[in-house]
Amino acid sequence: MSDRVKTAVLPVAGLGTRVLPGAKTTPKNLLNIVDRPILSYIVEEARAAGIEHFVFIVGRGQGAIEDYFDSNPEIEGTLEAKGKLDILADVRRDLPKPGEMSFIRQMAPLGLGHAVWCARHVVGNQPFAVVLPDMLMMAKPPALAQAVAAYEKVGGNIVVVEAAPEGETNKYGIVALDGREGRLNRMTGMVEKPPLGTEPSNLLISGRYILQPEIFNILETQERGAGGEIQLTDGMFHLMKTQAFHALEYEGTTYDCGDKIGLLRANVAFALARPDLADAARKAITELL
Ligand code: UTP
Repeated sequence: MSDRVKTAVLPVAGLGTRVLPGAKTTPKNLLNIVDRPILSYIVEEARAAGIEHFVFIVGRGQGAIEDYFDSNPEIEGTLEAKGKLDILADVRRDLPKPGEMSFIRQMAPLGLGHAVWCARHVVGNQPFAVVLPDMLMMAKPPALAQAVAAYEKVGGNIVVVEAAPEGETNKYGIVALDGREGRLNRMTGMVEKPPLGTEPSNLLISGRYILQPEIFNILETQERGAGGEIQLTDGMFHLMKTQAFHALEYEGTTYDCGDKIGLLRANVAFALARPDLADAARKAITELL
């Protein structure tokens, strides 16, 4: 029986250049999808997978993330005094229990692999999840819970994947499989942005991982890869020489909120999925069209 996955690393220290200038003063993962920041959905997804400890890897100027997950006596007191208890409950919904969240500074955005490595002392010697908050997933059960269920079945390391849009495998990290049967398959490799026609499958790496702690030793000595960054995919490829990796094709829809149109699509999709807003959202969108 594998150790239970209790800790998630959430790297949020990237510069968010694709959603500038919005991301200049508001960390991109605090941008709203309807009425909540992206991170609110992500933390909810991780909780539903049994995560008890959230390790954020943050950059300079991202103190607003800690503030979002802290109580705000002025706002809460005013709402209480005015009897706006439904809004108060909504504001408090995302507050962690004491000690549930840790924040680590990545002093320079040297890449996702480097960001994950920054969590080594806090994670310690246990399997852990990595959740990329830009990738917002609408899924039942939530995407990370699907990954944890797969991990409980096969152990080792799990990489959540999904079909790339037709003709776009050259834009993503793509996995190679040892045969394909059902949604959970043993991996044999992965490649970043393969030229069209050379892709080993049509399955892109989606932004949810379950990893074993041995990845930290590999990331520690790893050279910079594509884009001059320390790449998590390079580290996983190395670990695959000694440990099993499975790709899980999860059931659900991903919205890339690190991209302008992805952010817009997520806003529309999540508004349409909200029972309290769906009718008004549909009306507004139809009028615009
Ligand atoms: P991305 O490359 O998608 O995010 O990294 P980015 O760098 O913020 O975006 P662009 O390309 O400039 O628009 C995937 C995830 O890894 C985090 C990012 O914050 C994002 O959540 N990341 C990336 C770090 O935490 N540190 C890094 O050095 C790089």
